[in-house]
Amino acid sequence: MSKGKCILAYSGGMDSTISVVWIKENYDLDVITLTVDLGAGPEIEGVAEKAKKAGAIDSVILDVKDEFVDEYIFPGLKAGAMYEDVYALSTAFARPLMSKKLVETARKYGAEYVSHGCTGKGNDQVRFDASIMTLAGDDSIKIIAPAREWGMTRDEEKEYANKAGLPIRDVGNNRVYSIDRNLWGLAIEGEDLEDTWEAPPEDAFSWTSSIENSPDEYEIVEIGFEKGIPISLNNKNKSGVNLIDELNIIAGNHGIGRVDHLENRLVGIKSREVYETPAAVILYQALAALETATLSREQQRLKSSLSTTFSDLVYDGRWFTSLRENIQAFMDDAQKFTSGNVKLKLYKGSSTVVGRKSRFSLYDYDMSTYSTTDSFNHASAEGFIDIYSLPARIQAKKQKYNDL
Ligand code: ARG
Repeated sequence: MSKGKCILAYSGGMDSTISVVWIKENYDLDVITLTVDLGAGPEIEGVAEKAKKAGAIDSVILDVKDEFVDEYIFPGLKAGAMYEDVYALSTAFARPLMSKKLVETARKYGAEYVSHGCTGKGNDQVRFDASIMTLAGDDSIKIIAPAREWGMTRDEEKEYANKAGLPIRDVGNNRVYSIDRNLWGLAIEGEDLEDTWEAPPEDAFSWTSSIENSPDEYEIVEIGFEKGIPISLNNKNKSGVNLIDELNIIAGNHGIGRVDHLENRLVGIKSREVYETPAAVILYQALAALETATLSREQQRLKSSLSTTFSDLVYDGRWFTSLRENIQAFMDDAQKFTSGNVKLKLYKGSSTVVGRKSRFSLYDYDMSTYSTTDSFNHASAEGFIDIYSLPARIQAKKQKYNDL
């Protein structure tokens, strides 16, 4: 009888390489690795060879960058989804897509197991497990989470890798942060960052310049949007992936996009998280600026209350839910007229909106101008205020609550 199969989400790192061996030994399964390219990582090179060397019978590599941007990142941007106002959800957006690819690949190979490398302490295990179980729709797919099950310390993992003859990089006494990255952002955790009082050391960062090293000249960038989706950079049309990649470099160079956050994890603990998300910072800021022109006050208010729910849904691993789709539908409809351009000035770690325009702008010069040629009806203001303040005046008179 042929062995059962397991599709393992594979980054090429030490943990996931050990997992290939560990799953074969402990579950007696054939392992097929799945590496999804979400951008911004050098990992793809040589990953298939590494997987085979560790004993995988096959390795699949999928470039999902466009799908990631079109189906996850941009809907999130449109929804204003910033977890706790600062985290652009780069890792959180990736997990449901990775889960989808795991389930699809499992179906293709007739595998009854899928596996991911999450530990038992983080959000990612919840996002993977919940997404996989929701998508698989039944219990035909079982989940193996080696790092949650094996209970090895870092040193024991190294020993296990040595015994299995796996090459591991000797990092000596250097800090080894836990890093997760894709084109929407880079998350850094662990080591000296676990002391919430210690400033992140300069060498923890890789996408952004320090303020000290950022250029002494400012730079203006112009971003064009169509229905809430960024489509151009400095008046040149770009694919979503290219636009994000380029903006990461431009804004990162000015020291923009560093985030140092004490974050509420879904599993109930607080965690020190450092992020580098230059493009995300600029794009959220630019879109919000454009919305000030294209949305009514009530649309803006409702949007911002739904943004919080949306970002919690993404963070909490509830991507594949009707509620997420419902809110996304609202955002799509609300952004129908959010087309136009925003100009930002980048300088020494901060970006400032310095201009916005839209063919659908609700800003009406003739109404708003302070010059005497305005078309605003000053006479009707008096009548408006009379009726507008009526309930407050009646209450004050009858109940004398604000007698002076
Ligand atoms: N705290 C973030 C989240 O839960 C990022 C996690 C990144 N993972 C990592 N191994 N560094 O989405």
